[in-house]
Amino acid sequence: MSSVLILNGPNLNRLGSREPEIYGHGNFDELRTKCSDWAASNGQTVDVRQSNSESELITWLHEAVDAAQDVIINPAAFTHYSYALRDAAALVTKSGQRLIEVHLSNPHSREEFRHISVISPVATGVIAGFGFDSYRLALLQLA
Ligand code: DQA
Repeated sequence: MSSVLILNGPNLNRLGSREPEIYGHGNFDELRTKCSDWAASNGQTVDVRQSNSESELITWLHEAVDAAQDVIINPAAFTHYSYALRDAAALVTKSGQRLIEVHLSNPHSREEFRHISVISPVATGVIAGFGFDSYRLALLQLA
């Protein structure tokens, strides 16, 4: 059974109350439950984590490299400027594992600073704009 690491960046612990008109009404625990259910139906297991700390996210990507685990990551605002997170994401894909960048919203339809992703060039693929379903589609692709 394949095991997927699902990482979530800053402020995603506030899902449900944070700008629900953009990110929806579901909270982080609901996202975690949905990801577990979707994974189970694909024959996968998931480890869903969230951190507001760039350092912690980088450490978790290193763990994925060591464990040869595929990764789904919503880097949140770090998407747009964290070269350190990008370098860690590149370690995953250069080690032969897949890394899918996901977003709840479609950053390209929003403010200009969100149009840049420093993660996308080193990701295996990107899924954005489908709310929680972005994670479902990413799990399906990895399956
Ligand atoms: C986000 C989009 C980012 O621009 C934003 O900073 C987030 C969430 C999304 O899932 O739509 O925190 O990654």
